[in-house]
Amino acid sequence: MKYKNFIVVEGIDGAGKSTICDYIINLLNKLHIFNIIKIHEPGSTPIAEKLRKIIKFSKEEFFSYKTELLLIYAARLQLLDNIIRPNINKNWILSDRYDLSTYAYQIGGRSINKRNIIFLQKFIKNDIKPNITIYLDVNPLIAIQRIQSKIKDRIEKESITFFSKVRNFYIKMVKKDKTIKFIDANKDLKYVKSAVKNIILKLINI
Ligand SMILES: Nc1ncnc2c1ncn2[C@@H]1O[C@H](COP(=O)(O)OP(=O)(O)OP(=O)(O)O)[C@@H](O)[C@H]1O
Ligand SMILES: [Mg+2]
Repeated sequence: MKYKNFIVVEGIDGAGKSTICDYIINLLNKLHIFNIIKIHEPGSTPIAEKLRKIIKFSKEEFFSYKTELLLIYAARLQLLDNIIRPNINKNWILSDRYDLSTYAYQIGGRSINKRNIIFLQKFIKNDIKPNITIYLDVNPLIAIQRIQSKIKDRIEKESITFFSKVRNFYIKMVKKDKTIKFIDANKDLKYVKSAVKNIILKLINI
C-alpha cells in the first residue's frame, strides 16, 4: 500500500521521545509541511486515552501483565481504526511509540511469549507499518536521571533491570529491521536533533 509518511519515535521512558516529536513537527513545518497528525501510544482517541490512564496510573494491587497487554491492544485498535487508517493516505502521521514498544516492553520487559503478540497483531488487523521508526537509544541510568523531577507513572517506577531488558530487546529489533533507525541518545540534544534531521531529510528526499 502506498501512503504518506508514517513516522514513529521510540525508546525507553526518558529517552527524549516527546522532545524529538516536537522537534520533528517544527522541522516539517519549516519545510512547509503542516498536514501532520501527532499521536501517542497508548492513547489518542477518547477510549484509548481512558485505557492509557488505567495502564499508567491504576493502583489496583495486582495488575496482570496479560491485562496490561490486552488494554494496550484495545487502545491500539481504536487508534488504528479511528485515526491511523482514515488519515494514512492524506496526512503525515507522527507517533510517540507504536507497536515496537509492545515488543520491547511486553516481550523484552514482561517476558510475554511473542506468539501472543503476533496473534493480537493479526486479531486487530494491524497491517499498517511505519515508513520509518526512530529509535532513541539511551542507558537506563541516564534516562532515569532525565525524568527524575517528573511524577512517575506505574511503568516509569520500574527498575533499572526492567529498562535494561526493554532496551536490549529494542536493540535486538533494530538489528532485524532496516526501517528502524538507531540514534545514540546518550549524547546531547544537539547531536540527537541533527541525526533526526538527517533521517527526515533523507526520507523526504531533500
Ligand atoms: N539527548 C538529550 N540530552 C539531554 N537531555 C535530554 C535529551 N533528550 C531529552 N532530554 C531531556 O530529558 C527529559 C525527558 O525527555 P522527554 O520527555 O522528551 O523523554 P520521553 O522519552 O518523552 O519520556 P517519557 O517516556 O517519560 O514520555 C526532558 O527534560 C528533555 O529535555
Ligand atoms: Mg514523552
